[in-house]
Amino acid sequence: MKPIDTPDDQGLDAPASARQPAIGGAQRGTLIGIGIGPGDPDLITLKALKVLNAAPVLAYPAPDTGASLARAIVAPHLDGHHTEICIRMPMVTARFPAQEVYDWAAEEIAVHLDAGRDVVCLCEGDPFVYGSFSFLFARLVDRYPVEVVPGVSSITACAAVLGAPLATRNDVFSIVPGTLDMAALEAQLERVDAAAIIKVGRHLAKIRAVLTKLELMTNARYIERATMPAQNSMPLAEFVAESAPYFSMILVHKRGLAWN
Ligand SMILES: C[S@@+](CC[C@H](N)C(=O)[O-])C[C@H]1O[C@@H](n2cnc3c(N)ncnc32)[C@H](O)[C@@H]1O
Repeated sequence: MKPIDTPDDQGLDAPASARQPAIGGAQRGTLIGIGIGPGDPDLITLKALKVLNAAPVLAYPAPDTGASLARAIVAPHLDGHHTEICIRMPMVTARFPAQEVYDWAAEEIAVHLDAGRDVVCLCEGDPFVYGSFSFLFARLVDRYPVEVVPGVSSITACAAVLGAPLATRNDVFSIVPGTLDMAALEAQLERVDAAAIIKVGRHLAKIRAVLTKLELMTNARYIERATMPAQNSMPLAEFVAESAPYFSMILVHKRGLAWN
């Protein structure tokens, strides 16, 4: 992977042709994964914005049908100059259809990279925190220059919205996918001082059961769509729904509050 240079080092501000080594006489474009933050368009970094505006091609994930959240987040910053690649993901839990979509998307992107055009890929939150960008990265990093611009992760954004530090002093903090089975979830939560339980969705009942067993329900806070217009949060004990939206998480600390 290519390190991100400063503008003075002919980094992201320099045209692709000035940055890329000649390979077989051709100048290849760079794939740039940018973190666009958790939802509020103001939570994109200046660097990500600069890269977004400089690249001619824009790729982003989208559901099977309907609008892409990632594209909606950056929409206020777009000026219409991009060629767009919409990567539609089937809404299934099976691994294979998704892998086929990433294969296809990587080849679509490669066409532009081969032609010397930089491709910016939008990633909600941070690209390397459970980001689907990792799957494109894996397919392209050995063949093309790749750069990553970190973003504000939903995990830190949720803590900020809840006004609750994630961890302090010697706390061990863990990110725990709610998709784990009950025993694994319990084992992970037992080991740490604090956790962000992500991918809550239809796993809410199982997560509740584990937190109840560990006597942590009163310490758990639920938050959905943090920093988006429909943001909502409450103590988990007061959230009575059977399932949660995809963009939701639970923050829990064994002392109740990290600074206590
Ligand atoms: C595949 S992970 C992607 C995480 C992302 N790369 C990041 O750094 O925030 C998706 C999970 O992140 C959490 N998430 C992302 N955005 C969120 C938001 N705005 N509010 C609450 N949870 C969010 C949810 O738990 C969701 O299921």
